[in-house]
Amino acid sequence: MRYPEEVVEEVRMGNDIVDIISGYVKLQKKGSNYFGLCPFHNEKSPSFSVSPGKQMYYCFGCGAGGNAITFVMEYENYTFGEALKLLAVRAGISLPEPEYSQEAREQEDLKRVLLEINKLAANYFYYQLKQPYGKIGYEYLKNRQLSDDTIRRFGLGFANKTSDDLYRYLKSKGYEDHILKETGLVTVEERGGRDKFWNRVMFPILDVNNRVIGFGGRVMGEGTPKYLNSPETKLFDKSRNLFGLNYARTSRKPYLLICEGYMDVIAMHQAGFANAVASLGTAFTSQHAALLKRYTKQVILTYDSDEAGIKAALRAIPILKEVGMSIKVLDMRPYKDPDEFIKNLGADGFQKRIETARNSFLFEIHVLYGQYKMEDPEQKTKFYQETARKLLEFSEPLERDNYIQAVSREYTIPYEDLKRLVNQLGLQIVPGMAASKTGRYAGQEQTAEHKGYGEQSGNLGTEKGPQKPGMKRNKEEGARQSQRLLLTWLIENPGLFGKIKGIITAEDFVEPLYRQVAEMVFSGHEQGNLNPASILNHFINDEEQYREVAALFHAGLRGELNSQEQKKAFSDTVLKVKKNRLDWASRQAQDMNELQRIIKEQAALRNLNISLD
Ligand code: UTP
Ligand code: MN
Repeated sequence: MRYPEEVVEEVRMGNDIVDIISGYVKLQKKGSNYFGLCPFHNEKSPSFSVSPGKQMYYCFGCGAGGNAITFVMEYENYTFGEALKLLAVRAGISLPEPEYSQEAREQEDLKRVLLEINKLAANYFYYQLKQPYGKIGYEYLKNRQLSDDTIRRFGLGFANKTSDDLYRYLKSKGYEDHILKETGLVTVEERGGRDKFWNRVMFPILDVNNRVIGFGGRVMGEGTPKYLNSPETKLFDKSRNLFGLNYARTSRKPYLLICEGYMDVIAMHQAGFANAVASLGTAFTSQHAALLKRYTKQVILTYDSDEAGIKAALRAIPILKEVGMSIKVLDMRPYKDPDEFIKNLGADGFQKRIETARNSFLFEIHVLYGQYKMEDPEQKTKFYQETARKLLEFSEPLERDNYIQAVSREYTIPYEDLKRLVNQLGLQIVPGMAASKTGRYAGQEQTAEHKGYGEQSGNLGTEKGPQKPGMKRNKEEGARQSQRLLLTWLIENPGLFGKIKGIITAEDFVEPLYRQVAEMVFSGHEQGNLNPASILNHFINDEEQYREVAALFHAGLRGELNSQEQKKAFSDTVLKVKKNRLDWASRQAQDMNELQRIIKEQAALRNLNISLD
């Protein structure tokens, strides 16, 4: 579904953001902005800001941010279209019929029908549970100590033994075979339709908007498969949905609990831990991580205590780290999973266990420890070396040192020895860093001034021996950060455009997302209508990008460059962005002439002086 951009813009401008948000949140004016308690996370002191100038909001606590339209989307749980309608009515604007392409319309229609059918099916299963022949399912759930409230809250149901009753029921509602096939609930063969689920208790899977997108069904007692899940459909993408997130997202706890199964989530919610979610019958994916990041910065893994659970946790940790999540791991022993744990030790016991959750790094080291026989000197040495190698993953020296301390305490390795081992290993892995006097060998970012272009040849082919992968990532992150910072600066203080004239253009932003933003920011500035809220609208269809762009506009920098330090920081950032662009360009260079031109520019850059006074 699409509305023309002008219409979206008209609706947005027709609604003052302070007006809109004051309807939901108590705001207080401070300087040119308004502040209040963030409605998207739990907090005691206000870090939620609304800027009438930019017509945007941003929470310094949880990173939620956007314009009037997204506020309504997030707060009311509306789709873009729904939010737009509400705001259009409010501003007295009549919306045109949305522009649909033929194909988009068909897809939308199909999805709408599939949702309708899923909802019918969920109601049907729920109804069965309450029938005399559904008693066996109901008893099963009761035996697993689920209350009637819980059964209702999660909409649990029962698929009976008849092999085609759901199929016939849905047919009676007028749905045709070709549509029913797309639901994953039935198969249609020559002999007729067959239900996929029968003789199972049913768990509807809801997305964050409380729409039924699929089902899981558990066999009662023994039998395989223990859980049968809906196949992937137009609605159901396992790697993008988490069971329980529809409730967990509003639980207002500072962290989310991630577990393995349906029953774990339900048992935790019933025990008062409404912040539990599970990835369903599939490994934790980076899409899951991105989804979670919308709601929290902290997670606790509560996977099964068996080997498969430990493996799953070890796999999930780097994925969660990648999106910047702080991760802890809960040990369920001597019980198998959260469900069993809570049955035995209750909610209090579980809460106590949460308080002892282990930091994910120490968990990884702990697992490693289990793999070596410490009585054997050779194996013990290997354990130390492996540990040191892992410690090198921390690029920030202070953080690394904190972990060296923690590990040396926990495994009684003398601190100085472990530190020496880590340093030695660091020098072996990153030979170029041996010269570094400061010991900041990992993740060190070199500034433009320190790096002569003699090193450029390195970029053009001659590799300098093995590089730690983390190094590369850190450097990339450093380059991204400079671009991000520069953009924020320019947005906060458009006066700076004058200072970088002739040096920086939108093309110097090589990160694709920042380039897109930069183009709009630069052209907006040129035309005298630099408008953050409207720029943000361009990213409305991609949650991740949307958040990142919103954060650009609200990094909380003060635009003015008052002190010498700030001026230096600004000009360093400009140089870094420019240098990074040239390095990047030299790697892409197609011929000698182009390369020579770039090298000249690189040389010129070293003599560049940005005047900020
Ligand atoms: P478990 O086998 O650990 O089941 O699978 P559980 O959650 O402890 O289930 P109960 O307590 O015996 O009822 C964990 C999760 O893995 C998926 C399901 O999502 C399940 O909840 N799974 C498991 C499947 O998809 N299919 C299976 O056959 C088994
Ligand atoms: Mn279980």
